[in-house]
Amino acid sequence: MGIGTAPGAMTTDEIVALNREHTFFSWSAQGAIDPIAIDRAEGVWLYTPDGTRILDFNSQLMSVNIGHGDQRVVAAITEQATKLQYVQPAFATEIRGRLGQKLADILPGDMDKVFFTLGGAESIENAIKLARHYTGRQKILARYRAYHGATMGAMTLTGDPRRWANEPGLVGIVRFPDTHRWGEAEPRPAAEALQGLEDVIRYEGPHTIAAVFLETIVGTNGILIPPDGYLEGVRELCDRHGILMVCDEVMAGFGRTGRWFAVDHWGVTPDLITFAKGVNSGYLPLGGVIISDEIASTYETRPFPGGLTYSGHPLACASAVASIEIFKEEGIVEHARAIGDDVIAPGLAELAEKHPSVGEVRGLGVFWAIELVRDRATREPLVPFNAAGAAAGPMNEVAAACKERGLWPFTHFNRVHVVPPCTVSAAEVREGLSILDEALAVADSHYSG
Ligand SMILES: Cc1ncc(COP(=O)(O)O)c(C=O)c1O
Repeated sequence: MGIGTAPGAMTTDEIVALNREHTFFSWSAQGAIDPIAIDRAEGVWLYTPDGTRILDFNSQLMSVNIGHGDQRVVAAITEQATKLQYVQPAFATEIRGRLGQKLADILPGDMDKVFFTLGGAESIENAIKLARHYTGRQKILARYRAYHGATMGAMTLTGDPRRWANEPGLVGIVRFPDTHRWGEAEPRPAAEALQGLEDVIRYEGPHTIAAVFLETIVGTNGILIPPDGYLEGVRELCDRHGILMVCDEVMAGFGRTGRWFAVDHWGVTPDLITFAKGVNSGYLPLGGVIISDEIASTYETRPFPGGLTYSGHPLACASAVASIEIFKEEGIVEHARAIGDDVIAPGLAELAEKHPSVGEVRGLGVFWAIELVRDRATREPLVPFNAAGAAAGPMNEVAAACKERGLWPFTHFNRVHVVPPCTVSAAEVREGLSILDEALAVADSHYSG
């Protein structure tokens, strides 16, 4: 093993202490966290240094779509690393070209060019810049029920409360209505939601608006599936006014919803798509902006105004090429769709029937949310909007009950998301749902309906 990198040399306590002493953790009061140390991972399982197994019902922030520890990806990275580790992005490499081609094969419509970044937020930053440069307009429309990343532009586009600490952020960002009203299970009818967008476009002046940004299916903020006709309508409004439609598929892309991209459910082709996470299951940092032919062609004769030292990094590209091949060879997109339809949907419906605190379950593929309420009739959420501290107590108890039983969940506001790797087996889903079944008894104890 390499210089000072031999794994297994430290105990759990030493690992946690060293992490806490010298490193910062995201979104947290540093003194209040008690991280779990992870030593290795395989499939849907994480292992602590003392060998405890944890079922990853979160795919590590909805990233590890092909599962952990796939040695074929490791081999592809290793093979590339022995040959060429890094060249700056002005050079052409075989692996970068091959990844571009592989993406073009699976992309919707006339999209077959990509600008590589290192993750989701950087993809958003570059999409903002590109939309403004291409249209010569400044304003960007975005929604409240949205997370787009933690860099300055992406944070300003983000609607959820993580934006507040970063304000005022970029100028020229304007909100338009979400497809779902707060606390309501059903989306607004497509025509009504579209009318809200059209009004904002009118009031702001279409000629001032560069782009509409949206998560095709909202992820962190609730697995909100748009009504049929909505994305088609956004496309039509954008076309009518020369505004770019930018779909953020950082979370929803690469099989998570049971299609390669979430836009495929409605046959809509945006002008730009941002992606990251599932493209290579996070084995190395990688993201990108997919650019329509029409936009890309205008940069044949004028410079593209963007660049990143690690754009097209050979090792990251190798991991993504291998990952997409694995997706295809194993039919992982189809598996995600089937496991959603045949196992997760009926399993969650059973939980909803059994537990009064389950106000609603919704989702598709391996992208599901359980909405927890205090009262089914009023739909009062189990914890208030953006609850923290004692107010968040009931949700923290539910999460703790999952963790005690060996399940790593994703929780946000009053929701538990069921978002395992796309490769999860039916037996593993059932194992996870039976732990959730026990944990939901904790939520039921706060039910007052
Ligand atoms: C839809 C969406 N966009 C962008 C991002 C930001 O990605 P990253 O954390 O890689 O910067 C995320 C992260 O969760 C996301 O879910």
